[in-house]
Amino acid sequence: MSRTTDRRALLKAGGAGLALLGGGRLASAAEPTTRREPGGGFSNYGLPPERAGSPIRWISSDPGVPGDGVSWTPLHELEGTITPNGLHFERHHAGVPAIDGTRWRCIVDGLVTRELALDLEALHAMPMRSRIAFIECGGNSNALWRPEPVQAPVGWLHGLVSCSEWTGVPLAAVLAAAGPAQTGRWLVADGLDASGVTVSLPLERLPDDAMIALYQNGEAIRPEQGWPARLVLPGIEGIAQVKWLGRLRVTDRPAMSRFDTVSYTDRQPDGQARRFTRTMGVKSLITLPSVGRPVSTGTVEISGLAWSGAGRIERVEVSIDGGRRWREATLDGPVLDQALTRFRYPWSRAAMPAVLASRATDSSGALQPMRAALIGEQGHNAYYHYNAVLGLAIDSDGHVEHVHV
Ligand code: CO
Repeated sequence: MSRTTDRRALLKAGGAGLALLGGGRLASAAEPTTRREPGGGFSNYGLPPERAGSPIRWISSDPGVPGDGVSWTPLHELEGTITPNGLHFERHHAGVPAIDGTRWRCIVDGLVTRELALDLEALHAMPMRSRIAFIECGGNSNALWRPEPVQAPVGWLHGLVSCSEWTGVPLAAVLAAAGPAQTGRWLVADGLDASGVTVSLPLERLPDDAMIALYQNGEAIRPEQGWPARLVLPGIEGIAQVKWLGRLRVTDRPAMSRFDTVSYTDRQPDGQARRFTRTMGVKSLITLPSVGRPVSTGTVEISGLAWSGAGRIERVEVSIDGGRRWREATLDGPVLDQALTRFRYPWSRAAMPAVLASRATDSSGALQPMRAALIGEQGHNAYYHYNAVLGLAIDSDGHVEHVHV
């Protein structure tokens, strides 16, 4: 590369973290000044680089109820669409149970021809499938139901969503082996944690690619994600994707557990609650820029994530004027059903100040609602399933603030 092209490349990059050595040569911070020495040894299990500000899950727990709380995926500090296993969000109601995989069984019973007691060996002997899918807690983003916008990085408000490649045994194969009776209408799934998670799912609305998952991103599911096995139900709210799976019971009616009735139901303006609202809506959010990470000068890339429980993302549009005009963003492919999808949009900070927003359309034709429309429909009693368009105001200094648009 000639000296002039070097300079041009540098100027194009807008001084974004590049340094120029004498003579126009680009400098690398890693360039050794002395003879190179052999580095550290091998490791049995690799870890991220040690550096200041490494991404971590932010934990929000209830000190009065041991094991009750959440940890958030730092969406504002990650790239791409696959969440590292150590940063997948958690929602626990009674902590992470210690389960001995050699003694673990998943019982399949109820209205079936053959009761099953599946251990890990039995599951591993069955044909498996892999599937990339997001999991989102039904309560993700619920601080946004409040009248005032909350000032926090995007991951700490919306990071109860993560995306992994899951591998396991198709639920359809397990149910076929048990032989559900004609009268079977519901599947009741029990988790083995101390809170006694029980969730009822209509058999006819189970996703085709539902599975008993054993692997997450190629390695055995971690304890906090449900070791030895969990349900993965692409597109369905997280609570139903039962971790530490202990029993699947075919029934003719829902169990009406507290997870079917008291929590994970949607209170309407008239006080009535909608139950079994399990599918997550179409949603998008900008992860860069984010609150606490000022925008630099020049051209910046707006980037974010979109997903829908109903299918794949068809389109993401970005607005720089608070939702008056929309322009189409580009999507990183491949765009998959019920998977996080990365969108990007180049933006020149010439037009300052600005109010950034994104809105997604999914393959069912559903368009992410504006906040006023969502509140208008759901009222002020709602707690779950917040999926409205999010606003980010950028002032002339590049500072970022959450605003309602
Ligand atoms: Co719901």
